[in-house]
Amino acid sequence: MSLQSLPPVNFKSWKELESLSKHKFELNALFNANPKRFQEFSIQNEDILVDFSKNLIDEEVFSQLLKLAEEADLKKSIKSYFEGDKINETEGRAVLHTALRSSENNSATVDGKEVYTDVQSVLTKMKTFADQVNSGERKSYAGKKFTDVVNIGIGGSDLGPQMIVDALAYYQEDIKPHFISNVDGDHVLETLKHLNPETTLFLIVSKSFSTQETLTNANTVRDWFLKSATQADVKDNFVAVSTNISAVEDFGIDTENIFPMYDWVGGRFSLWSAAGLSIAVSVGSGNFQDLLDGAEDMDQHFKTSEFEHNIPVVLALLGIWYNNFLGAESEAIIPYTQYLQKLAPYLQQASMESNGKSVDRAGNKVNYQTGTIVWGEPGTNSQHAFFQLIHQGTKLIPSDFIGFKKSLHGNSKHHDILMANYFAQTEALMKGKSEDEVHAELENQGLSPEEIQNLLPFKVFEGNKPTTSLLIDTLTPKSLGKLVSMYEHKIFVQGVIWNIFSYDQWGVELGKQLAENTLRDIQSDTIENQHDSSTTELLNYYKS
Ligand code: F6P
Repeated sequence: MSLQSLPPVNFKSWKELESLSKHKFELNALFNANPKRFQEFSIQNEDILVDFSKNLIDEEVFSQLLKLAEEADLKKSIKSYFEGDKINETEGRAVLHTALRSSENNSATVDGKEVYTDVQSVLTKMKTFADQVNSGERKSYAGKKFTDVVNIGIGGSDLGPQMIVDALAYYQEDIKPHFISNVDGDHVLETLKHLNPETTLFLIVSKSFSTQETLTNANTVRDWFLKSATQADVKDNFVAVSTNISAVEDFGIDTENIFPMYDWVGGRFSLWSAAGLSIAVSVGSGNFQDLLDGAEDMDQHFKTSEFEHNIPVVLALLGIWYNNFLGAESEAIIPYTQYLQKLAPYLQQASMESNGKSVDRAGNKVNYQTGTIVWGEPGTNSQHAFFQLIHQGTKLIPSDFIGFKKSLHGNSKHHDILMANYFAQTEALMKGKSEDEVHAELENQGLSPEEIQNLLPFKVFEGNKPTTSLLIDTLTPKSLGKLVSMYEHKIFVQGVIWNIFSYDQWGVELGKQLAENTLRDIQSDTIENQHDSSTTELLNYYKS
């Protein structure tokens, strides 16, 4: 079944929200007026607490946002998503990354065929492989235990696995993970510089097995490997993950070393599939399963909770409120743990490749904003980098603050300082500092009235900057699975409401085609393709 295709701007709730957006939302006043604001605007689901009370909303706005979800037919859309309807219509595919983590009783079907059995058989193959590599049962061509694993892939075949491997570094087994993604030869050679071909396992991950960067890198790596080993040794040190089995075989990889992917899983949502093999090897199969279980818990919460208590739905609606009604252009993701340093880059692809669209599901150009710009860095580093602009700049930047109750290594002195910053920042962003407060502070410091007058405007903080606090018990494979699944569903909900197709990426395809033509122009004596004069001159300069 197709998703409903109606422009959201025609919904009654959209029009109500437009008129509500003209009101002033003063967070300090809203908190003073409603002592139960935290209780009304927070959701707790097992080990995750989401406090969205520091957002520029009141009861009326929240209720209209919930109506917007109803008018957009979100309930039915969620059903279609989980049941394997071909909601990626421009590619004629289902969108079933959720099936990769679902238990048997929640399993889905594609074209009338249940997928659970297939998914489990690939998962078992992955786990066996990871266990054998970690125990040393599966050895390199040189008969040695692997010490390093290198994931060669780009986009969804890199960002998700890399983000998770980084996030779960605490849980790592003794095999060191590496990631080669950029077609920049320096990236490849810099990585290889530290590796021993006798003890390095290479995972070539490419859903299409036709991505220029990945194949170029894989060939370079194989050439490097063949300086120490023979073609027959490739089968021991190289495996591939792909839907394109024949292309993998042409590359020379043994059939039994191929882990299949599915066309009903988008690259940017594929970390739960065999594309996550580097995760299973790096943190072990048990932790990989916990990651899947956490994601499934969030899937269930999303599928079954009423919208007002539904974490992904609420986050998506808040994003729409800022993006479409309050004029925000971006949102920041600030995890207060260094382990999540790759979360923002991962979410950039997940969100911006999905919802960076300007044509609606009926093929018409939209006349409203769609996908937001996602960015961020861990706190407290980000406080010393870009927080000035969030506090006192001219832009509205709603931010997610992600914190944990417990640290992993148990250093509570550091953790308390870290979390003090987490709490203090959201409070400061909301409360700001008034003229009176600044005046009193400067007076206490002994400044003259004239000095105070001069400094005052620069030291005032307007405040009223919106934040959402996500407070999670501990960073575990399970809680991480939940967190990532939560953001995946947020992206889905926003795409449904914006009436766009979130699961294709035609814009990226254009760049790929053009790069191939341009490469021919670089490698031949003359420039054959028609370019604008700027590009032609740049090419000539490069070639000279
Ligand atoms: O960037 C475009 C894209 O198609 C992504 O969607 C995908 O994650 C990436 O390229 C890599 O594709 P593949 O896994 O097919 O090599």
